[in-house]
Amino acid sequence: MCEKSILEQGGNCLLSGSLLMSKKVVRLYACSLNDLHAAGTVECEIMVQNEARQCFILHYNDSIYAYVNRCPHTGINLNWQPNQFFDITGQLIQCSLHGALFRIEDGLCIRGPCLGDSLQAVNFEVRDNDIYLLYDQ
Ligand code: FES
Repeated sequence: MCEKSILEQGGNCLLSGSLLMSKKVVRLYACSLNDLHAAGTVECEIMVQNEARQCFILHYNDSIYAYVNRCPHTGINLNWQPNQFFDITGQLIQCSLHGALFRIEDGLCIRGPCLGDSLQAVNFEVRDNDIYLLYDQ
C-alpha cells in the first residue's frame, strides 16, 4: 500500500478515504521514484466514487506503467504476494490464480484464459521525484 495518501484537487489537499469531488481529474500521490526504483513495483489503493480500486505501478526498462490490479479473467487481484507482479522471467506480468501472462508495455494478455483481454491502464504523472495516479471523477 502507499505510504502517503494525499489527494489533490486543484491545489487543495484532502486526506484519502473519502473522495467526494466533482472536479474532472483527481491526482493521488502513489510513491516516490526512489521507492519505485528500489521495489520494482508498488501497490496503491484509490477511491473512485466511494469504491476502492487496487492499482499497481511498475518500473520496467526505464519506463513506468500503472494498471488496475484486477485480472480480466475473474476480477481478482493479480499478485500472490505484496508487490509481486512479475513472472519468473521478469519480462511479463503474471496472474497468481491461473497464470495468465500480460505484456508490461500495454497490459495485453498473451497467454492464459483471458487471452486477448487487457489490464486496465491507470494514468499517472511524475512531478519532481514523485508519482501521482490520475483519474476522472
Ligand atoms: S484469475 Fe487471472 S488467469 Fe484466472
